[in-house]
Amino acid sequence: MSLTESNVARHYGRLGLYDRIITGLAELGKSEDNLTPDDLKAVDEFHIGGVEATRDLMAQVDIGPQSRALDIGSGIGGTARHMAHSHGAIVTGLDLTPEYVETARRLTKLVGLSPEFVVGSALDMPFDDQTFDLATLIHVGMNLPDKAKLFSEVARVLKPGGSFAVYDVMQVGKAHPEFPVPWASSADTSFLDRPDAYLAAADKGGFTLVAQRERGAFARDFFARLSASLQDSSPPPVGLGLLMGEDAQLKIRNMVKSVGAGDIAPVEMIFRLPG
Ligand SMILES: C[S@@+](CC[C@H](N)C(=O)[O-])C[C@H]1O[C@@H](n2cnc3c(N)ncnc32)[C@H](O)[C@@H]1O
Repeated sequence: MSLTESNVARHYGRLGLYDRIITGLAELGKSEDNLTPDDLKAVDEFHIGGVEATRDLMAQVDIGPQSRALDIGSGIGGTARHMAHSHGAIVTGLDLTPEYVETARRLTKLVGLSPEFVVGSALDMPFDDQTFDLATLIHVGMNLPDKAKLFSEVARVLKPGGSFAVYDVMQVGKAHPEFPVPWASSADTSFLDRPDAYLAAADKGGFTLVAQRERGAFARDFFARLSASLQDSSPPPVGLGLLMGEDAQLKIRNMVKSVGAGDIAPVEMIFRLPG
C-alpha cells in the first residue's frame, strides 16, 4: 500500500462500525434477526443521492443475473448488495479500507446476500484479466491520484465489450472545496479532477464514452430534501454520520457549499470497451 493509500484508508477507517450500525438499527426498532437490504440504505450508499443515484446509474447499463459485476471502492457494500438484490448479478466489491470490507461482509451475511468483498486497491486490482462484464466506481475517483492507471486496470479486468459506470464528484468550476470534505480531511488525499481528465484517461485505456451527465442540479435538490427532512430533529441513529465520524456535519457542509456554488458536482460517465 502506498503512503497515499494508507492515509486514505485511515481517513475512512472506523473501529466498531458494524456494531454501531446494529445498535442504531435497534434504536429504530429493527432487530438484527430480520433485517432486509433496504433497512441498510440510510447508511450503506455513501454518495450524493444515495440509492436513488445508484438506481439512476444502473438504469444506464446492461445488468442482470448473467452479469459478473465489480464495484470498485465498495465501501460498506450498499451498491454491491443493490446490484445483487435488485438485478441478481454476481458481485465482487473491492475496497482499500479493511474496516469497511469487514463491515460489508458482515452486513451482507446478515441480510442473506451473496456478494464477496476483497481488500485491495483500484490502482492494482487483485483480479485476473477479463473477469468482469461490468465495473462501477461510485464516489471513489476523488481519492485516486492516477486516473490513467485506474482506467488501464479496469480495462484489464473487464471482458471485451464490458462496461464501466462512473459516478464521481468532479471539479466543474474554479474553487476547490474547503477541507474537510467527506472523502478527505486534507489536500494530501484529495484528487478531484475535471471531467476532461477522466475522458482522456478513458480514451488512453481504450474505452468509448457512451453517456455523460452532470448531476449538480440533482445534488442540490437532494441536499434540499435532506435538510428539510432533518429540520428541528437531531441526526438519525443510522445515517452517513456513522461513516464520517465526529466532524461529519462540517464535511457535509463544505461539500454542500461547493456543490451549491457550482465548483464541484457529481458526474455520471458510462464507458464501453470494444467487443
Ligand atoms: C465515499 S466512499 C464511497 C463508497 C461506495 N462506493 C459507496 O458509494 O457507498 C469512498 C470509498 O473508496 C474507497 N477507496 C478510496 N481509495 C481507494 C483505492 N485506491 N482502492 C480501492 N478503494 C478505495 C474508500 O475506502 C471508501 O470506501
